[in-house]
Amino acid sequence: MISFIDEEYMPRDIESTGACFHRPVLLREIVMALQPGAGKIVLDATVGGGGHSLALLKAGASVIACDQDPEALEEASKRLAGYSNRTRFVESNFADVDEWLSGAGVEELDGILLDLGLSSHQIDTPSRGFSFLGNGPLDMRMGPHIQRTAADLVNRSSQEELARIFFEFGEEPAGRRLAAHLVRVRGRAPILTTSDLVKAVESVIPKRGPKHPATKVFQALRIAVNDELAVLERALRSLSVRVKGGGRMAVIAFHSLEDRIVKFFFRDISQEWIDRPEWPQPQRNPAYAFRLITARPIEPSEEEVRQNSRARSAKLRVVERIRNES
Ligand SMILES: C[S@@+](CC[C@H](N)C(=O)[O-])C[C@H]1O[C@@H](n2cnc3c(N)ncnc32)[C@H](O)[C@@H]1O
Repeated sequence: MISFIDEEYMPRDIESTGACFHRPVLLREIVMALQPGAGKIVLDATVGGGGHSLALLKAGASVIACDQDPEALEEASKRLAGYSNRTRFVESNFADVDEWLSGAGVEELDGILLDLGLSSHQIDTPSRGFSFLGNGPLDMRMGPHIQRTAADLVNRSSQEELARIFFEFGEEPAGRRLAAHLVRVRGRAPILTTSDLVKAVESVIPKRGPKHPATKVFQALRIAVNDELAVLERALRSLSVRVKGGGRMAVIAFHSLEDRIVKFFFRDISQEWIDRPEWPQPQRNPAYAFRLITARPIEPSEEEVRQNSRARSAKLRVVERIRNES
């Protein structure tokens, strides 16, 4: 399936880069996509537990390891300690890391990786409030600098705003009814924990199929708290400018809302000509600067999903900046 590059850059012991903090998804595919040889600089914009970064370092590249979660940076710095001469750490939202790159004099990058969403550590730590399975404060912030928690949103947003969040970010059909119910519940006592929210959801949304009824509601709140879709759009625009000729940008998305943004952005920058019904003829696309490496997204193999069920919805898309002929 991945015939787009050879295995020249693959470290011999790549499989040993998995860990319990977070098991990296599509690891071999990322190494193949980013071609991380010696002398290359790769921005891992979502370093998490450092699994992808470790493989990129083992293959010879230098890595700028970014995350907005200090817990991730702490873990990654331990994990990548053996490569400290080729690794730099940045605590930042990836939508703002461009500023850091300018300050550090890094004008161009050979590769960029965005492995979106949450690490297993974030999901599995009840005090972070991301999971409907354990009880914890209704927080859901990926980093301490983020102003509003999920509890702030649930207790202070208007009913209309809550309904919009559940509809737009969770595609939850019962969003309106749930928003109305939450406003009634919080009128009696604030909704402060993940269990409070699960209880409220379960009284409105019946269990349908194998999925927990709160799945979409938790997804929607998490996206809203961390402003995930807006920061993704900003990051794609600001970071793609930094990719040098022949360099690549790889994004792994885990739900259709973020994958759609990546898909359309990559399409917009890789189409030489654009056409509109109202134009007499197609026009050259001023944003054209990349070649689409993955005509269709790369998905994990059955074997990977068997070993790591959290990989099941992953979709990897890759583009490469066209080299300047002159
Ligand atoms: C799926 S995990 C990445 C796992 C990592 N590739 C590994 O091998 O361990 C996603 C990470 O991205 C971080 N993250 C998500 N959105 C971010 C953003 N806008 N800016 C910076 N970090 C972000 C999360 O805090 C989390 O640590």
